[in-house]
Amino acid sequence: MKPTRFLPALIALTMPLAAAEPEGGMFAHETAAQRDARMEWWRDARFGMFIHWGLYAVPAGEWNGETKHAEWIRDTAKIPLETYNRFLTQFNPVEFDADAWARMAKEAGMKYVVITSKHHDGFCLWPSATTGFDVESTPFKRDIMGELKAACDKHGLVFCMYHSIMDWHHPDYLPRRKWEKDRPTEGADYDRYVTYMKAQLKELIERYEPGVLWFDGEWEDTWTHEMGKDLYEYVRGLKPDIIINNRVDKGRRGMQGMTRDDKFRGDFGTPEQEIPATGMPGVDWESCMTMNRHWGFNKNDNDFKSTEDLVRKLIDIASKGGNFLLNIGPKADGTFPQESIDRLAEIGRWMKANGEAVYGTTASPVGAVAWGRVTAKEGADRSKLYLHVFDWPEDGKLSVPEIGNDIVSARLLDGGDALDVSTDGKSVVVKLPATAPDPISSTVVLEIKGAPRIGK
Ligand code: GLC
Repeated sequence: MKPTRFLPALIALTMPLAAAEPEGGMFAHETAAQRDARMEWWRDARFGMFIHWGLYAVPAGEWNGETKHAEWIRDTAKIPLETYNRFLTQFNPVEFDADAWARMAKEAGMKYVVITSKHHDGFCLWPSATTGFDVESTPFKRDIMGELKAACDKHGLVFCMYHSIMDWHHPDYLPRRKWEKDRPTEGADYDRYVTYMKAQLKELIERYEPGVLWFDGEWEDTWTHEMGKDLYEYVRGLKPDIIINNRVDKGRRGMQGMTRDDKFRGDFGTPEQEIPATGMPGVDWESCMTMNRHWGFNKNDNDFKSTEDLVRKLIDIASKGGNFLLNIGPKADGTFPQESIDRLAEIGRWMKANGEAVYGTTASPVGAVAWGRVTAKEGADRSKLYLHVFDWPEDGKLSVPEIGNDIVSARLLDGGDALDVSTDGKSVVVKLPATAPDPISSTVVLEIKGAPRIGK
């Protein structure tokens, strides 16, 4: 018998000790410093691209004259599996150019990309040995995940993956959709489905080394806390420095997205289509949001948020200590919708001048300000407060409340001379030039001595 064979027995012997830790597990014992090191790149990044892409791009949101669908179309339009499978022969995104996608993300100022390796429909965007329901079975055949991973590496972006736990295709996945009549559940074995999903994740992690695994579809009753814990451990076991969202487990509180209780696994909260009202010190979170109203491509949805709105959302999120994951739903030909391309370029122009006030910043140490938002880079010797001015004060006086520190200087981030600073009661007042340099948001850098002392 090889000596390593004794290992399980040894572990079993020490079990009573481990069992004293009710919600234990190898990776639950990470120290705060280890966790900080693992989360560092993600916290500094602040801005990422979400990509929802798969067979559902083919119908582009429309079915039998109804135009409200998107990545949920198989369910929302009640499409039988056999009919849906026909999209396999139609998925041929000949214009797909991973390098162009990565470049657009990079130029928008994004630091990571999270793409759907598999959405709820079960279709896989990489050639998988685990299933025939993958890109290899389409006329396109190419390894989309592999190409995007290489392009992300080339452009210095962290490649990440969204993987749905819910799966409307695999015969062992339960439950069926309520409207499904043609897929008997007899013989279905959920444990076997979990084994299948784990084999997929092993393939994905070993081949594409994602920085984040972004699970979803955890809300169905068949998925339990025990399974969530086990999956978290499994994925960290395959890649110890990986970051995993809280949808791996059952602790997420609805669309608000934060984790209920620390017994639940997941490294960050996932507010969906919303931004928390305030920051949450010590809690990592990422708001994910669509640019229009759908995640997957919907050809009739022209309801795009303005660039101003998107940039201000990014700033709002950063000022509360969160990340912004902004979605693109590429078309079936492999290109991004023009509205998305335009907005990415415009956001990129703003980020080029103001990125310093977003990347690596922490939540605002000061209370709410009427004119915009604040982000910070704190140091023991000196700190910087970035004053993001949405509404340029008419009297040219920008008032920052309750700063007890000595002021070093104030200046516009995008160049220009030092600005006059004075104090008025408990507020610091920066004298601004007559007009705002940027109508979306202009940044003033206020440098102070020491770590921020607010209200003292
Ligand atoms: C959801 C949806 C989905 C989308 C996702 C993004 O819960 O089911 O289609 O992928 O959230 O956050």
